[in-house]
Amino acid sequence: MKLDTALKPQKLSNRVRVVGINPNYWYPVAWADQLKPKQVKAVTLWQQNIALYRDENGQPHALEDACLHKGVALHKGEVEQGCLVCPYHGWHFDQTGKCVSIPYFKEHQNLPKACLHTFPVRQRYNLIWLFPGDPDLADQSPLPEVPEYDDPNWLIVEIPAHFQVHFSMVNENPLDVFHGHLHRDLQGWYNPILIHLECNQQIVQAEYEVTFRNGWLPRFLGLTQSDEEEIKRSIVVGYHYPHCRNTMPGKSNYYFMRQPVGPTETHSFSMLCLKVKLPRILVKLIRKPLSLIFWRFLVKPFLDQDIEVMESEQRNFYRNPNRHHVEINPVIAAAQKLTVEQYDRYASTDKQETQRS
Ligand code: FES
Ligand SMILES: [Fe+2]
Repeated sequence: MKLDTALKPQKLSNRVRVVGINPNYWYPVAWADQLKPKQVKAVTLWQQNIALYRDENGQPHALEDACLHKGVALHKGEVEQGCLVCPYHGWHFDQTGKCVSIPYFKEHQNLPKACLHTFPVRQRYNLIWLFPGDPDLADQSPLPEVPEYDDPNWLIVEIPAHFQVHFSMVNENPLDVFHGHLHRDLQGWYNPILIHLECNQQIVQAEYEVTFRNGWLPRFLGLTQSDEEEIKRSIVVGYHYPHCRNTMPGKSNYYFMRQPVGPTETHSFSMLCLKVKLPRILVKLIRKPLSLIFWRFLVKPFLDQDIEVMESEQRNFYRNPNRHHVEINPVIAAAQKLTVEQYDRYASTDKQETQRS
C-alpha cells in the first residue's frame, strides 16, 4: 500500500496534511442500500482501487479491482453465482479472490494458483465498511457505535459529502467549534469557550460551551425556548480515530464517518441523529423523506460553506506545503498529533514486518 504522498514537510502541522491512514480500522465505502444484489461498484480507499459487489444472497464482498489475468478493471464485470466475472475473458473470481473458472479451459486443465487481494467487509448502519489493513486484526477492531440508529426516538439524517481535501482537514472541521463565524448567516452558534480537553492514543475529546441566538432553527431543534433571547449549550466533540463525533447532550449526535480516498480527496458518510419532537409513528413512516428534507435545508447549507473554505485551504497547502500556520486551538493541535502518531505507529510496524519477511 502506498502510504503517504510525495510531499515531505517536517513540521507536524504541515506533515499532518500528507500522512497516510492507519489501515487497521474500519472505513465506510458505500451506502448499503445503494448496492443491490448482483451490482458491482468501484470504490477507492486510500489509493487502492476496489471492486465492491453484492452476491445473489445479499452478501457484500470486496476484491482488488484488477483482474489477475491482465489487470482489467473488475468492477466493469458481472456477478454470477457468487463470483465476480472479468469483462475481458470471463475468468470467474470467488469471494476469496481465487480464480475458480476460466470459460475456455478444458475440464481438467489446472487453474492459476495466484489469488486476488480481498478485504474484510461488514454491513451496519446502512453502510458498507472495509478493513484495508491486516485482515487478522479485523475482528478485534470494532466498528464505530451508533446506539441511536435503531432507536425510533431518533431521526437519522444520512449525509453524503465529497471533499477535494486531505482527510486530516476534513476531520479537523467538526472539532474546530471556533469556526461558527463561517456559519453566522445560518443561525449557527457563537461565542465558543473551550472548557475541557483530554487525549489518548485513540481519542481526542473536548467540551465547548457555545451560545445560540433565538431563531427558527435553534427553536426547531429545541435549543432555545420561544421566550429566550439566547441560550448556552455544551458541545462535546470527539476524534475517535479515524472518525469524528459531535454531541449536544440529549439533543443531537453527529457521526462523521470518513473514507479517505487519496492525498487530496475524502468522502464522508455522516449521520446526524436528532431527537425530534414528532410522534414516533410519523418519524418511522416518513424517516427517509424527512431525512432528505433535513439534509437539504438544515445540513447542506452548512456543509457547502465548510467545503468551500476547506478546499481553498487544501489548494493553498499544495502551493506552499512548508508555509508556517498559526494554530491556536489546542483541540486541533491534539487532533493533528493523533493523526500523525496513528500513521507513524502503523508505518513503523509495517516496516518492521517487511524487514522480517
Ligand atoms: S483480463 Fe480478466 S479475464 Fe482476461
Ligand atoms: Fe462547519
